[in-house]
Amino acid sequence: MNNALVFDPELLQRYDLSGPRYTSYPTAVQFHEGFGEDAYREAIAVSNAAARPLSLYVHLPFCGTVCYYCACNKIITANRKRASPYLEDLHREIELQAELFTPGREVRQLHWGGGTPTFISDEEMTALMNQLRGQFTFLDNDEGDYSIEIDPREVTPAKIAHLRKLGFNRMSFGVQDFDPKVQEAVNRIQSVRETFEAVDAARTNGFKSINIDLIYGLPFQTVDSFAVTLEKILELSPDRLSVFNYAHMPHLFKVQKQMDEATLPTPAVKLAILQYVIEKLTSEGYVYIGMDHFAKPDDELALAQEHGTLYRNFQGYSTHAGCDLVAMGITSIGMVDDTYSQNVKTLEEYHERVSAGQLPVYRGVKLTEDDKLRRAIITELICHFRVDMAAMGHAWSISFEDYFCKEQEQLQGMAADGLLSLNDGHIQVLPRGRLLIRNICMVFDAYLQGAEAKKRFSRVI
Ligand SMILES: C[S@@+](CC[C@H](N)C(=O)[O-])C[C@H]1O[C@@H](n2cnc3c(N)ncnc32)[C@H](O)[C@@H]1O
Ligand code: SF4
Repeated sequence: MNNALVFDPELLQRYDLSGPRYTSYPTAVQFHEGFGEDAYREAIAVSNAAARPLSLYVHLPFCGTVCYYCACNKIITANRKRASPYLEDLHREIELQAELFTPGREVRQLHWGGGTPTFISDEEMTALMNQLRGQFTFLDNDEGDYSIEIDPREVTPAKIAHLRKLGFNRMSFGVQDFDPKVQEAVNRIQSVRETFEAVDAARTNGFKSINIDLIYGLPFQTVDSFAVTLEKILELSPDRLSVFNYAHMPHLFKVQKQMDEATLPTPAVKLAILQYVIEKLTSEGYVYIGMDHFAKPDDELALAQEHGTLYRNFQGYSTHAGCDLVAMGITSIGMVDDTYSQNVKTLEEYHERVSAGQLPVYRGVKLTEDDKLRRAIITELICHFRVDMAAMGHAWSISFEDYFCKEQEQLQGMAADGLLSLNDGHIQVLPRGRLLIRNICMVFDAYLQGAEAKKRFSRVI
């Protein structure tokens, strides 16, 4: 695949709209409470007939301190004991869910996300992993992708060794920025030394893939300051890098109001940082996968993209296209058969449901045929930057041109702007359009009518 990328500031500014990140289509905005426990059970029954392998997501929401930029689903508390009633409920939910899935469906992928999964003690983590292994069928040859999100401030080398023994083989480290002034402004003081120690421990203990999260767009960041952070990160030689565009939505995430908006970099500075990041990382041999993600060329994500088998779900890009995603814990989102479903958001509701023997699903959506077709196109675009319109039409028994005749006009406009080409029955995203892939996907999003709908999403650039 041609991974060339052209950075055109004028074009990027012109297309700088708000838009979804497409970890699902339809996006969570379309989930409704008409979809509940019964609909979820039905979806599981259908998925059992297909007997696909499983991907498990476990949400551990607690954090010891708050980072002011944070848009994750988290509960801030200094009291470590608060986790134990939640873990009891989580163990119960694991049982309730597992009994609905046919035994023997292999767990190919596991992810513990947060919040901060390592907020809980080693003993609590062991018990949780034992519960998962007792209820689902794990692979015992280290062939599964079993990953965990790590805040380097919340681990010791001994804890990392413990996680490896539990069966994790991938780690994602939150760093964001090493600059002390930025760290102070976002209330996340994290030394280079503790980060390096954590990554070293992961390598020593045989973790086979290391990802690092950075954010651009935080207070006081400049190209020069971010370059220093990036230089340090490159010394760690991570297999993957996520360089997120800071999503500033204080109306949704109140804690973001703790930061003085006057200290946020201007759009022009953000663009300059993005340009620097892309040039630096690609010159260092990383491949731009798409949507904030970079990987080494021999990493499975880059290989999957090259072979046309890359996929995208709630955990971002993935190599596990054929799995049903079973999500456990508050706020978590699952994808089983042709449905998405989300668990309740508060500890109280979660306890109430689970202790009564009910699944904690409170909303979701069952995809229509039109949703599935549009999802297939959006997935192709976001993962492979190319859609074979004739093949897509054939697979879905439609005439692509007729079905998407309204969309053609917008595509033509984008073609005129050099974002994509429409030759030989293919939509091919061009180097100039790769950074605007969200905008191109938005053409196929049937739910994005009017400016109001777009306000719920962060800015594209
Ligand atoms: C659940 S957190 C990571 C785990 C751990 N709690 C930590 O902070 O290291 C997932 C990642 O989301 C990203 N993130 C959080 N809030 C964000 C925001 N407002 N905009 C962009 N990225 C954000 C950060 O890069 C963070 O590392
Ligand atoms: S970035 Fe991580 S540690 Fe900070 S508040 Fe969010 S989830 Fe918690």
